[in-house]
Amino acid sequence: MALCKLLTLLSIIAMTSAGMVVHESRTSAPAGFVSQGIAPANDMLTLRVALTSNNITGLEEKLMSLSMPGSLEFRQWLSMEEVKSFVQPSSETVSAFSAFASANGLEPTVISPNGDWVSITLPVSQANQLFATQFEVFTHPDMSNTITRTLFVSLPSELVGHVDVIHPTTQFIGPNTRLAPASSISLDRRAVAASCNSSLPSGVVTPTCLQELYGIPTAPATEKTNFLLVTAYEDEFAQTADLSEFLKLLRPDIPSTTTFTLLSADGGVNTQKASDAGTKANLDIQYTTGVATEVPIEFLSVGGDDFGTSLLDTTTFLDGVATPPSVMTTSYADNEADFGSSMAIKICNGYMALGARGISVMFASGDGGVRGGHDSLSVCDDNTFMPVFPGTCPFVTAVGSTQGFGPEKAINFTGGGFSNFFPAPSYQTAAVASFLKTIPSDFAGTFNKSGRAYPDASVQGWNFEIVSGGEVGLVGGTSASSPTFAAIIALINDRLIAAGKPVLGFLNPFIYSTASTAFTDITIGHNSGFVCPASSVAFDAAVGWDALTGFGTPIFSEILAAAMA
Ligand SMILES: *[C@@H]1O[C@H](CO)[C@@H](O)[C@H](O)[C@H]1NC(C)=O
Ligand SMILES: *[C@@H]1O[C@H](CO)[C@@H](O)[C@H](O)[C@H]1NC(C)=O
Ligand SMILES: *[C@@H]1O[C@H](CO)[C@@H](O)[C@H](O)[C@H]1NC(C)=O
Ligand SMILES: *[C@@H]1O[C@H](CO)[C@@H](O)[C@H](O)[C@H]1NC(C)=O
Repeated sequence: MALCKLLTLLSIIAMTSAGMVVHESRTSAPAGFVSQGIAPANDMLTLRVALTSNNITGLEEKLMSLSMPGSLEFRQWLSMEEVKSFVQPSSETVSAFSAFASANGLEPTVISPNGDWVSITLPVSQANQLFATQFEVFTHPDMSNTITRTLFVSLPSELVGHVDVIHPTTQFIGPNTRLAPASSISLDRRAVAASCNSSLPSGVVTPTCLQELYGIPTAPATEKTNFLLVTAYEDEFAQTADLSEFLKLLRPDIPSTTTFTLLSADGGVNTQKASDAGTKANLDIQYTTGVATEVPIEFLSVGGDDFGTSLLDTTTFLDGVATPPSVMTTSYADNEADFGSSMAIKICNGYMALGARGISVMFASGDGGVRGGHDSLSVCDDNTFMPVFPGTCPFVTAVGSTQGFGPEKAINFTGGGFSNFFPAPSYQTAAVASFLKTIPSDFAGTFNKSGRAYPDASVQGWNFEIVSGGEVGLVGGTSASSPTFAAIIALINDRLIAAGKPVLGFLNPFIYSTASTAFTDITIGHNSGFVCPASSVAFDAAVGWDALTGFGTPIFSEILAAAMA
């Protein structure tokens, strides 16, 4: 007994004298989270540890070379094994972590195909000691469960350079990361499959309207392995009965039996019952299936209640899929600051790896304008803008929203701005420099001019007609725009594959260098938010790239021509 205590004491002294290096810290939890005191010492924690990849800068260089028009290896996308050779940790890193684990009686389990994530289970008291931290229990008024987190976490010096993230520690991600539809009005008069201006009632967006507006072909796709993947989190379930109704109503020219393949990660399910209908999941599935005519659609339902873990596990799931989708779209996001930089960077590197395999990764840019995922009256006077992740990751294509048809304008809630974690990638510096010149010198908003600027492109995002739980309704949000843009890119990939060419893969260098004129420039709009008054400080749309709509809305024929060139 005495000996045992002594040993514990000695190991604490050893740890302290070996030196601890602060890895990540925050001054307080984000608004809404309240500490209920220190976490009980004997509670068990399962922590994921990201082991440093052996050559992530090499993978980034490789991705830029693969995706830059004119490069010798343009679009020669990598295999699973080739990506793994960059992402897996070095043998030194694996040894360093193994030595640390066995010295402390931990039994790590490898939990990702590339070997860059391991999981350890240990009591709170041991985690506090090993990582010089103090876990607390937090509540949030919109969450039924409590979460165990800390405001600071350190690494023993022998792990510095070998460990990138310990999760969950300092990451506080809000409970409602689905970008709530900005409108949800039940519709008594069903729109018909007609052009935007003449659909009844006028102004309702349908697949036919989008096809006319952007010149999207109605002819069926021909390639059977060109998958478009829709991700789903937070128990959002897509209903096949609603999809069938939607197609009967708005795409009567394609079989109403057209459906999607269900994929699952972390125990995700997709229950079928009108009361289980998820507005977001239905919107995503209806506007991919309804616009990407006969492109095979996959619906990946990700279980679990921690959004950071779910985003990560989406990337590690795809790392293990031999025939990956060519396009992936996500309508969920949260304030960048909530993730903390180490977790955001690690998730973003996961998208880098997917891009290198030839997957175009799209994210909704956020529904709070310059003020985060969703705006609220309490933030309207806060002129320190809040960027939204994953749209701020330089390896995804962030999609904003427009409304109206003559001409299209940026909608007030379209998320856009500048990252505080990711520096501006070289592919966009010239386009963004032109936008920065349009900002008046007395501009009252505060943002990081050197950060990755987003969105990259935009699509209509208001008054989308959907069927959900058997009801016809209108919804909006950048969550309407991202699946629609994904559908367009999936159709371009169908044409590329049919012509024997590689798919578009990581899109942004192509969009910024050769395809920027394949978009209709949107020059009107102010993204102060859906709730915040239009007088609130925000960005204004401008000629050329802007932080509301990127380069603007797609012109199908021109993107196709640029892609084929
Ligand atoms: C890292 O990857 C780059 C390719 O982008 C390669 O040139 C370099 O040799 C790699 N470095 C190591 C240490 O493997
Ligand atoms: C809708 O009407 C406006 C004029 O009110 C016109 O400029 C625009 O081209 C029309 N759009 C479509 C898709 O027909
Ligand atoms: C601004 O962005 C740069 C580049 O990503 C980063 O190094 C810096 O810390 C950011 N500044 C703030 C105040 O977040
Ligand atoms: C933002 O735009 C939507 C759609 O046009 C509108 O319903 C909403 O009232 C606008 N919000 C504000 C604060 O003006």
